[in-house]
Amino acid sequence: TPPPPDILSAEFAADPYPSYAVLREHYPVHYHEGTGSWLLSRYEDVARAFRDPAFTTDNYDWQLEPVHGGRTIVQMSGHEHAVRRALVAPAFRGRELRDRFLPVIERNAAELIDGFRDAKEADLVGQFATHFPVNVIVDMLGLDRADHDRFHAWYSAVVDYFANLGQDPDIAEAGLRAGRELRAYLLPVIHERRAAPGDDLLSSLCTAEVDGTRMTDQDITSFVSLLLAAGGETTDKAITGMFRNLLDHPEQLAAVRADRELIAGAFAESLRYTPPLQMIMRQPAEDVALSGGTVPAGSTVTCLIGSAHRDPARYEHPDRYDVFRTDLTPTTAFTAAADHLAFALGRHFCVGALLARAEVLAGANQLLDAFPHMDFADGRAPADSGVFVRGLQRLQLRFTPE
Ligand code: HEM
Repeated sequence: TPPPPDILSAEFAADPYPSYAVLREHYPVHYHEGTGSWLLSRYEDVARAFRDPAFTTDNYDWQLEPVHGGRTIVQMSGHEHAVRRALVAPAFRGRELRDRFLPVIERNAAELIDGFRDAKEADLVGQFATHFPVNVIVDMLGLDRADHDRFHAWYSAVVDYFANLGQDPDIAEAGLRAGRELRAYLLPVIHERRAAPGDDLLSSLCTAEVDGTRMTDQDITSFVSLLLAAGGETTDKAITGMFRNLLDHPEQLAAVRADRELIAGAFAESLRYTPPLQMIMRQPAEDVALSGGTVPAGSTVTCLIGSAHRDPARYEHPDRYDVFRTDLTPTTAFTAAADHLAFALGRHFCVGALLARAEVLAGANQLLDAFPHMDFADGRAPADSGVFVRGLQRLQLRFTPE
């Protein structure tokens, strides 16, 4: 039997997938010293941890509060969670998303692509994907478009704060400072919108009421902070990961180019094959018996999404990237029983899933239109990095005319 893999080792960071296979086969429920948590690696067990209310998100209190400056909906449960989620959810689905925000998405994609439309090369991460979802959220909230770069700087500092895991005190301090600056910027705007609401998402958040509850100042500032960080980095990694995966499988890219309906499948398959959030933590309120063993009450459980997605018990040829696979259907509903776990499942299923999908579809369509021929600038597919959040730091593409 191989020894248990260490998810904090350099070997794991370079390529986690072989280690996931060892965990699934030999250590499906395994206590990991380095993180002080129980690793779940099988699809069945990870899905159960997302669905079963015995698994709480209480562990997030200490992880998220300092930088967001308050509690966010990911940390809440029960009635408190349901009410606050209901206040924000309508903006991220259905008619609101299509009629009010799709034009905002299309416009921001076009503006960023204009920046390199005539170039021979571009870095899709630095020049497009790290800005796109942040700019969209700023515009949806009705904040000043002239401040896109300031929001990007705050966003980057907060994302670095989480990636740092408390290691480097300068990075930690920069993240906390960015959080404070963001809140100081937002508070006067929130007070203005309460007094004179406009036709924007921030005004909706300020005035919406469910069950006699309204969002407080702190609810709103921490929620905006969550939207920037959670909605930004994940979508960045999702769209650039999808382009890397497609360019790495040129026959599938050609098929997607020819039939744009296939982008939704390519997006779902990329979220399965290379999910941006590789692991998510939970805290069981009681002892829970899973397929591979029992996790104790009060412990921390790490749900390995990246491993669940390569589980041969769930997917045929799980290590193959295939936009045509039939054991996966794209996320189309808001409270999805999605066929992959990249957006989680259950109560905390990503409230921005359909927004992310709309962004990726619009962005990918426009990029394919703007660049009839694209390839890796140095001829090779770049590798992902990162352990908890995993994706590309850079995707340098070369564009050639038809
Ligand atoms: C929750 C993934 C895009 C906002 C989540 C969760 C996951 C996830 C796994 C569950 C977290 C947990 O249970 O601990 C993703 C991925 C995205 C994406 C992979 C891109 C492809 C977005 C976008 C937004 C967003 C664009 C909004 C702008 C949120 C919020 C929650 C959440 C507010 C908390 C929901 C709740 O606790 O009820 N996301 N997300 N996400 N996501 Fe996303």
